[in-house]
Amino acid sequence: MRARVWWGLFLLVLAGWRGAVAQTPVAPELLERGEYVVYAAGCISCHAGEEGESEHLEGGRAFNTPFGTFHAPNITPHPEHGIGRWTEEQFRRALREGVAPDGRRYFPVFPYTAYTRIRDHDIRAMWAYLSSRPPVARPSLAHGGAWYLQLPLAMRLWRLLHFSPGPWQDDPDRSAQWNRGAYLAEALGHCGECHTPRGLMGNLRLDRKYVGTPDGPDGDSVPNITPHPEDGIGKWDQDDLAYFLESGMTPEGDFTGGIMSEVIDNGQRHLTAEDRRAIASYVLSLPPLADEEALGGGE
Ligand code: HEC
Ligand code: HEC
Repeated sequence: MRARVWWGLFLLVLAGWRGAVAQTPVAPELLERGEYVVYAAGCISCHAGEEGESEHLEGGRAFNTPFGTFHAPNITPHPEHGIGRWTEEQFRRALREGVAPDGRRYFPVFPYTAYTRIRDHDIRAMWAYLSSRPPVARPSLAHGGAWYLQLPLAMRLWRLLHFSPGPWQDDPDRSAQWNRGAYLAEALGHCGECHTPRGLMGNLRLDRKYVGTPDGPDGDSVPNITPHPEDGIGKWDQDDLAYFLESGMTPEGDFTGGIMSEVIDNGQRHLTAEDRRAIASYVLSLPPLADEEALGGGE
């Protein structure tokens, strides 16, 4: 009888202790901030189910590229199918360096060439937020990348040429608003992943930043968003662009469609008005560039 009581006590203590470990309190502000960063970085558009329809980030969406078809994996905290067994450091390394826990180099369809610029405190907040979400038992799909990408050295070579890891550095000669906008557009919002044309190896042509491309995601064309008065958005002011990022409406009264409406719905719309104005201030400060065709002398 006594032994039973002792056992009961022991189990109670053990349960209490385990409960305490499982619920190491995470500051609610950190979770809130993490959710905000996840929106600002557009993780939802790619990882929320096959068509961005899911409330959770269990992956499944397919990306058809000239280099093959890739699938966004499950990034819920499921221990087998998601990233539930990862450490925060492995998560940081995936974003900052584009390297998986087993050492594999990720394909840049996962836009880590932009995310490498995310600052440590934002990565930490995202990790806390993602870890607090429910695990989903959905296996990640295999990629169908081109054969040469499977060569052990292919991704290493690509990275050597086209990837420079490291967090965003503010420009001390610019205003706080401009720097905030640059960080939001370049590190988090990854506008250039779609609006900057790519070279033969799928690398971004940084001399043509934000000039648009006829071969965007899914083969759609992506407009010029440099402040060029005819080819770009040079006739828009800061309020026009900030309002567009909130509502999807252009100053001409048209609504944007396709993938840009996802960028807004799953991301930009959730930002503070101040952050959207900051992005606008940065984008409209870039060099105005004419469309590619115009450069060749035209018809
Ligand atoms: C444009 C689509 C896209 C966006 C946006 C995107 N991802 Fe991904 N992500 C992918 C793809 C595709 C892969 C698979 C890459 C590979 O396996 O080489 C991936 C892989 C990952 C992995 C590695 C998972 C594993 O099992 O190894 C993590 C972690 C991850 N993404 C987190 C994020 C986070 C956090 C965000 C937002 C900051 C984000 N992703 C935004 C498409 C995207
Ligand atoms: C996933 C790809 C993708 C990303 C990321 C993206 N865009 Fe877009 N954007 C598009 C496409 C495609 C269109 C054209 C949509 C259409 O046909 O209505 C577009 C349209 C626009 C337009 C309208 C231009 C015009 O002349 O009507 C603006 C402005 C714009 N994007 C700004 C941004 C900014 C700023 C960012 C980063 C915060 C961004 N986009 C991120 C793909 C993207």
